[in-house]
Amino acid sequence: MDVRHQVLDARGSAGVDDAFAERHGHGFGAEIMGANKFGPPGWQDDPEWKGWWGPTPPFHTPTFVLTHRPRPPIEMDGGTTFHFLDATPAEALEAAREGAEGQDVRIGGGATVVRDFVAAGLVDHMHLVQVPIVLGRGVRVWDGLEALEDAYDIEAVSSPSGVTHLTFTRKAVS
Ligand SMILES: NC(=O)c1ccc[n+]([C@@H]2O[C@H](COP(=O)([O-])OP(=O)(O)OC[C@H]3O[C@@H](n4cnc5c(N)ncnc54)[C@H](OP(=O)(O)O)[C@@H]3O)[C@@H](O)[C@H]2O)c1
Repeated sequence: MDVRHQVLDARGSAGVDDAFAERHGHGFGAEIMGANKFGPPGWQDDPEWKGWWGPTPPFHTPTFVLTHRPRPPIEMDGGTTFHFLDATPAEALEAAREGAEGQDVRIGGGATVVRDFVAAGLVDHMHLVQVPIVLGRGVRVWDGLEALEDAYDIEAVSSPSGVTHLTFTRKAVS
């Protein structure tokens, strides 16, 4: 785990959760997300829908939305441009890499997209936060990813807040 420094945010939080959150924000030149992260069911029927985040989304990079109903790109304030792709994970990653200009590409969710990219062997590093709440429904991230531990070094860090941070780092090929 790379905990180089702890930063107090505007609400005064600190500690392990904050250290992980801090790492989330740096070094990314593009984002990939699924259609169900970009909007509510049926957003493709609304030509005015531009995502949840208002005029200045927090990505500040090219952001690639995987959808079976693509539309032309939308340029937002603050450096985010949404591109809509009907493509395989490998094709989407190639497009995002071009947009990232040498920086990392973040796979931002939801569970379906994360699972598909991990299953395709396209993820070098993954950070998952396990929260002790039983929802009892939803999309399962682990389905089809049996024996993931063969390909990744896995670390678990418990936080006093009650969550567990899991990091998966792809093992070097010998
Ligand atoms: N709170 C959050 O930040 C957040 C984020 C994401 C999801 N969620 C919620 O989590 C639940 C599960 O979400 P999810 O796993 O379904 O979300 P998701 O991964 O964001 O979206 C999956 C959808 O993306 C599109 N898609 C995925 N791969 C594609 C490909 N290769 N080519 C073209 N289109 C592709 C498909 O939508 P189409 O066929 O409709 O185009 C697919 O149904 C939902 O209830 C969702 O609302 C919450």
